[in-house]
Amino acid sequence: MKTIGVFFGSRSPEHDVSILTGQLIISGLKKCGYNVIPVYIDKKGKWYSDARLASMKFFSQNPTDLDKKLESFNIDFNKSSGKIVKQSGFLKGNVVFDIAFPAFHGQNGEDGTFQGLCEILNVPYVGCDVTSSAITMDKVLTKMIYKANDIPTVDFVSLNLNEWRLDKKSVLQKIKSLNLPVIIKPARLGSSIGISKAKNQKELEFGIEVALHYDEKVIVEKAVEDLMDVTCCLIGNDNPTPSLLQESVFSSGFFSYEDKYLKGGGAQTGNATKSIIIPARLNKKVTQEIQDAATKAYQVLGCSGIARVDFLYDKKTGRWYANEVNTLPGTLYHHLWKKSGIPFEDLLKKLIGFAEERYHRKKQITYTFNSNILTQASSNKLSLKGI
Ligand SMILES: Nc1ncnc2c1ncn2[C@@H]1O[C@H](COP(=O)(O)OP(=O)(O)O)[C@@H](O)[C@H]1O
Ligand SMILES: [Mg+2]
Repeated sequence: MKTIGVFFGSRSPEHDVSILTGQLIISGLKKCGYNVIPVYIDKKGKWYSDARLASMKFFSQNPTDLDKKLESFNIDFNKSSGKIVKQSGFLKGNVVFDIAFPAFHGQNGEDGTFQGLCEILNVPYVGCDVTSSAITMDKVLTKMIYKANDIPTVDFVSLNLNEWRLDKKSVLQKIKSLNLPVIIKPARLGSSIGISKAKNQKELEFGIEVALHYDEKVIVEKAVEDLMDVTCCLIGNDNPTPSLLQESVFSSGFFSYEDKYLKGGGAQTGNATKSIIIPARLNKKVTQEIQDAATKAYQVLGCSGIARVDFLYDKKTGRWYANEVNTLPGTLYHHLWKKSGIPFEDLLKKLIGFAEERYHRKKQITYTFNSNILTQASSNKLSLKGI
């Protein structure tokens, strides 16, 4: 029986959402018969691994003093090479994780950082790799890749804190070309945190200040009016399978944090059934175009395992635009996969299979290169003088 470490929480504004995803994955994996070890990183960055962490009840009681209650978790880089090892007390011996299953959202986990740790340890892990996770965390870089690959996306301007503080006027001048209304977002955040819509100059400047509060990099986009929020999940490695399209209905302005997670249990979690329409109310041609664009985005961004590509559809013009990519869709969008014919437990098994496939394929790659550069460095042929 495989032992799977489920990692969640971490220093991210989306910390709480990650707990929901983590809990769902833990209970699903247990039902599949895997041996599951929960690993929780708290808001300050402290790691814990304790059986009590595998329960939503534990978190809903707002636990404090975790240090005193829970077993902490430290990675021993020596012991964890090629596997992750949990030291379980002198008598119980060590527990070896076969695979890491990240359930993080946002910074310090979904952004390539945790994936980098797994690469260094040479441990198989579920979901996207370092590069695709890092690029898709940044909405500006993602859109640059869309543009380079002819994937339609809304026009945008990117700015950073330094530019804004030094020369607000030039930044505002650049944004002018987009024409109001615009949508302002922190470039590397999610869950609609820090996002606003500006219809006039005052709202624009205020919106930028708010977004800069969450990230030093901000993206300002032309607003799509008559908006339909459409999303397509994909699973797989080289040839991903797209899900049906989901249309998410929101209550005011845009798909907000409240719509996503709170109203009726949240559309993003699959609970607010009234706000979720599957398949999206789009004709066959547009549906196919969006699924094809989602597949292309997944491939050019180098995604693997699972990801979700979001689209903005203008109901008036019938045009659609690729928006952002989430490499770890909240709760894995299990409700959409279920409607697409893949029950949750099958989805989890498939994701573990894709992780193993990528790991074994990477093993074929040569990471060594024999040369006599070091011998030469000490001879006259290759002098290090001046380095
Ligand atoms: N250019 C846009 N025009 C209109 N609405 C937008 C635009 N960009 C985002 N939105 C709205 O804001 C929501 C959140 O934006 P998104 O880019 O998906 O960020 P997040 O990572 O926070 O989910 C979208 O689901 C959509 O409802
Ligand atoms: Mg989104």
